[in-house]
Amino acid sequence: MKKLFFGLIAVIAVFSVSCNKSSNEILIGEYESLTGAEATFGISSTNGLNLAVEEINNSGGLLGKKIKLITYDDQGKPQEAATVVQRLIKQDNVVAIIGEVASSRSISGGQICQSNKTPMVTPASTNPEVTAIGDYVYRVCFIDPFQATVMSKFATNTLKLKKVAVLKDVKNAYSTGLADFFVKEFTSMGGQVVVVQSYSSGDKDFKAQLTAIKSENPEGIFIPGYYTDVGLIAIQAREIGITQPLFGGDGWESEKLTEGKAKDALEGSFFSTHVSTDNPDPMVQGFIKKYKEKYGKMPDAMSFLAYDAGMILFEAIKRAGSVEADKIKNELAKTKDFKGVTGTITINEQRNAVKPAVVLEIKNGKFVYKETVQP
Ligand code: PHE
Repeated sequence: MKKLFFGLIAVIAVFSVSCNKSSNEILIGEYESLTGAEATFGISSTNGLNLAVEEINNSGGLLGKKIKLITYDDQGKPQEAATVVQRLIKQDNVVAIIGEVASSRSISGGQICQSNKTPMVTPASTNPEVTAIGDYVYRVCFIDPFQATVMSKFATNTLKLKKVAVLKDVKNAYSTGLADFFVKEFTSMGGQVVVVQSYSSGDKDFKAQLTAIKSENPEGIFIPGYYTDVGLIAIQAREIGITQPLFGGDGWESEKLTEGKAKDALEGSFFSTHVSTDNPDPMVQGFIKKYKEKYGKMPDAMSFLAYDAGMILFEAIKRAGSVEADKIKNELAKTKDFKGVTGTITINEQRNAVKPAVVLEIKNGKFVYKETVQP
């Protein structure tokens, strides 16, 4: 009787261990802001990533297994990003992690990945600090010192501006970083930054800062923030009579940027980003077609980048022939001339991708291709 009892316990134990291991699946984690102020960032990237997973699974999977994606919502909060990344690693036992879009949250999640030796690939975080965390953290996009050069060149050579103002979000690592790099670059190209003003993400009234900016008579305003605030800033700038062009970085990109009154306020403004949907390249147009078929709307930069982040990670796992963390990260580091939907991707020694940027113009609420700037 005793023997039978212990036998039964052993059978149950073995069964539950093998179930937990889901040995026919490769578990990949993802953390994004699916709710909260910046929800379009998370929704666009999870859509793009799911497309990559679906394609790999439909064409036979990875190392003979299916990829299973476990996605958590960090609600747009750095602290929550750390919590869900911890959960992905400790409870779900994922082999690698994709996320986040926003640099502040990638820094917080990246530190957890690094200390647990779990490879992480961020699709879209551009602040240099993200991959500087350590050798388990990678990105498939360019970094902000380059983005600052792109917009400094554009302001100097295309818009012919000599005196500009900067309005930055002090609660956002991406924004403060990009503002600093821009001031340095624009000045080194002979321009003058006449005033730098600050706000905190979520603020609703920017009149004091905009009035201070207006009194310095700049020829343009660089606003390295997220779409959530940029629309309101533009509306209020026009209300107090600022007619000069506004320009910014990839954080502007969202279908929500030009909603309502922001559409007119942002007419003739510019921002740099990772991809233009006007690009006739068959890879770009093919992705747009697939994305539209599945989700019924146009992809944005984050959808493209998350798709590439997934594909680069899956390729690395394939080349590694294993789900061992060290092998995956070594293969990620070797990524070279990968043909992605955001262009050809090579990961450099700092674990960053070296790629061109595009500048888009806002015309009638749409983002229209203006120029490409090579690294
Ligand atoms: N680059 C931004 C950051 O690092 C995130 C972002 C990427 C936003 C692409 C929009 C589009 O925070």
